Amino acid sequence: MSVVPRYSFDPGDTALTADPYPTFARLRETDPVHWSDLGYWVISRHADIRSVMMDRTGFGQGDFVRNIQLFYDPDFDVLSNSAYRWLSEVFVMQDPPQHTRVRRLVTGALTAKRVRAMEPRIRAITDWLIDGFIRDGSADIITQFCYRLPVLVMCDMLGIDPGNPQLPQIVDAIGQSFIVFEARRLSESELATANREMDRMDAFFEELFEARRREPRDDLTTALALSGDSADALTPHELTTVATGLFGAGFETTAHMIGNGLLTFARFPDQWTRLCADPEGLAPAAVEEVLRFESSLIGGYRTALADAEVGGQKIKVGQRVLALIGAGNRDPRVFSDPDRFDIGPRAEQHLSFGGGIHFCAGAELARLEGAIAFERLAERLPGLRVDLERPAWREGFLFRGLSRLAARW
Ligand code: HEM
Repeated sequence: MSVVPRYSFDPGDTALTADPYPTFARLRETDPVHWSDLGYWVISRHADIRSVMMDRTGFGQGDFVRNIQLFYDPDFDVLSNSAYRWLSEVFVMQDPPQHTRVRRLVTGALTAKRVRAMEPRIRAITDWLIDGFIRDGSADIITQFCYRLPVLVMCDMLGIDPGNPQLPQIVDAIGQSFIVFEARRLSESELATANREMDRMDAFFEELFEARRREPRDDLTTALALSGDSADALTPHELTTVATGLFGAGFETTAHMIGNGLLTFARFPDQWTRLCADPEGLAPAAVEEVLRFESSLIGGYRTALADAEVGGQKIKVGQRVLALIGAGNRDPRVFSDPDRFDIGPRAEQHLSFGGGIHFCAGAELARLEGAIAFERLAERLPGLRVDLERPAWREGFLFRGLSRLAARW
């Protein structure tokens, strides 16, 4: 008698890159609190994900070194790698009270007022980018638009000269070093590249903060440097750590959101037609549906800070949990007809900005950029068509987005 091997979730499975949703559905419906042979729990139902993310005392980030050693071995010297050291210090990976202090200082600088004030600039950058290719009749929409928009917006906010010759390297450095977010063992060469690129970003942002200390400006870099009083202000090292995180989080996920949205509109052309009929009115709801349907950050990790129970399953203190945001976003217990992309407003909330104390600090900026991008593309390029046969998904599991997408109009 043949025995069917037990399924074990592996984020390195390349089939997940092209389409993770069949696997997500299978897990969610048959094994919603799944134990992966990689040594952590995988949760996939909306209610379980929400309860873990909202739980401030039962779940947190826990022991960073131990969490990473899980993928290597108990002697692996995690913090001698600058990319992991950075990750251990970035506030999304920290628990209170350190997380509370840094988040307060960052949100004190990245205010709703500062984000609202960006709207005319985001509109101007969007139109300038579209002007650059509209007469060509075709473009690689990912590199020419989806990436460039949030990169230029983050440059504007942080006061980085968009003509800075180091910028292309810094943008690439984000992709190569943020690989440390992936919950898996990295190869020696991946880790060496991540370390090298993290050092590059460190030096870049150190220089930027030094320049602002000498000559303050009305930008987020200066606001971060000045936030807090002398007792709790961010140290120079914390400033570069935060700036790298904001810069990366600020463009990578947003670029993917816009690209994933354009691909999804092409798969559901009736929704593109609907958006084109009322771009300004429907763009904000379209952003929410894109975030739900094809989230650009597909999961988040937590550690049980005490023995807990999730979906009827006992989780022991110290065990890791991968919350599959992308699976929760398609949970039929919460969303009616979840595999249908429908830009009409939905009553229930997607999980794409996380929840609880780590709720995305840039959610309003991302929403504004997405709404302006979809509104202006629908107004100016209503005939936009993309190559559905060959969307090039980038490698990696956690950040879901395209590296190229041929478009014509
Ligand atoms: C579509 C775009 C975006 C998506 C899908 C997204 C998603 C998320 C998610 C899911 C988290 C929570 C992670 C966790 O709990 O483990 C998060 C946290 C965070 N995001 Fe975003 N994000 C986006 C854009 C941005 C932007 C534009 C910025 C900054 C300008 C930003 C800055 C941050 C920061 C600083 C945190 C950490 C918050 C904390 O730990 O307190 N994000 N984001």
